[in-house]
Amino acid sequence: MPDSVALWVRRAALIGMVAGCLGAQPPAGGPGAPPPGGRGGRGGGGGGLLAQAGAADKQVVDEEAAERGKKIYAAECVNCHGNSARGGQNGPDLVRSLVVLHDRYGSELGPILKKGHPLQSGAPSANLNSTQVQELSHFLHARVGDTLRTSPLFHAQNVLTGDAKAGEAWFNGAGKCSQCHSVTADLKGIGAKYDPVDMQQKFLFPKPAFGRGGRGAKQTMVTVTPPSGPAVTGVLDKIDDFNVSLRDKDGEYHGWTRTPQLKVKVDDPFQAHADLLERISDKNMHDITAYLETLK
Ligand code: HEC
Ligand code: HEC
Repeated sequence: MPDSVALWVRRAALIGMVAGCLGAQPPAGGPGAPPPGGRGGRGGGGGGLLAQAGAADKQVVDEEAAERGKKIYAAECVNCHGNSARGGQNGPDLVRSLVVLHDRYGSELGPILKKGHPLQSGAPSANLNSTQVQELSHFLHARVGDTLRTSPLFHAQNVLTGDAKAGEAWFNGAGKCSQCHSVTADLKGIGAKYDPVDMQQKFLFPKPAFGRGGRGAKQTMVTVTPPSGPAVTGVLDKIDDFNVSLRDKDGEYHGWTRTPQLKVKVDDPFQAHADLLERISDKNMHDITAYLETLK
């Protein structure tokens, strides 16, 4: 038992680290500050640079802003959306909400609240100012992180409650895993390689936690085409709303300021796995783990 507790703690820390690594640099202006120029993001109206948002530019939670957001949440939202934002009788789960997953510093939340949304105080939600919206955003993103860290999904004893047959069907069907994997080739014997908790980790966060990719890992490539010039392709160095940089095959560094005219195409081999977080249900997660564990 103490053994499994230690493992659990180690893994919780690991998930935290990995989740942290998925995050990009905090936006200029310091943690918690809105991206300069505001907006951006899907539905943020800014021409959608962030329509290309992916694993590389998740929101970096500012803990202090999240704490302030928690107070606003408690005053205005908790009765409907529940204590840990996992939903209640009168409002949906916000941790599993695509709106929240796509939100960056209020980019999605802002418009919803501007348009008009019920508040516990009965005040018009459009009265919440942009700082308060960001604080709420940080609070909700912190809940998403906590859910991953503390979810019963990550307790070993719950992992194998899945239905392997249903997992197999999902693997070859709606889960689309077979587009990239084969259980007789790259995933052959994977059940012997990882215990259930590690397995779940692996398919939720296959990206190596340390360094740029680690040994032999697939790297994220990016192709940038300036309005006037030839396209440059290389290994992604950094990307956010404002800048993008890469190293070409000769190791040379190239950097650009992002504008709507600058075409940026990111090819992240781990994108499919990042997207999984958006569409996988708890049941899918259990089923697929149970299935992969049968591949010994
Ligand atoms: C009186 C109940 C109630 C209160 C209070 C309330 N909500 Fe909601 N909320 C709902 C309901 C019902 C929906 C689903 C229907 C809709 O989108 O309007 C929803 C939807 C949402 C969504 C969209 C979720 C999705 O995935 O589509 C977000 C985000 C949200 N609420 C955030 C908040 C925040 C933040 C607060 C507090 C500032 C809040 N809500 C207060 C009831 C409430
Ligand atoms: C678009 C391609 C793609 C899709 C779709 C995809 N994966 Fe992956 N998966 C990868 C890549 C890339 C890796 C990293 C391993 C590597 O570098 O070869 C990976 C790694 C993994 C690993 C870890 C393998 C190991 O040996 O450590 C597991 C397990 C896994 N995926 C399961 C799944 C499951 C289950 C699904 C479906 C829900 C899925 N994958 C969908 C591309 C994909």
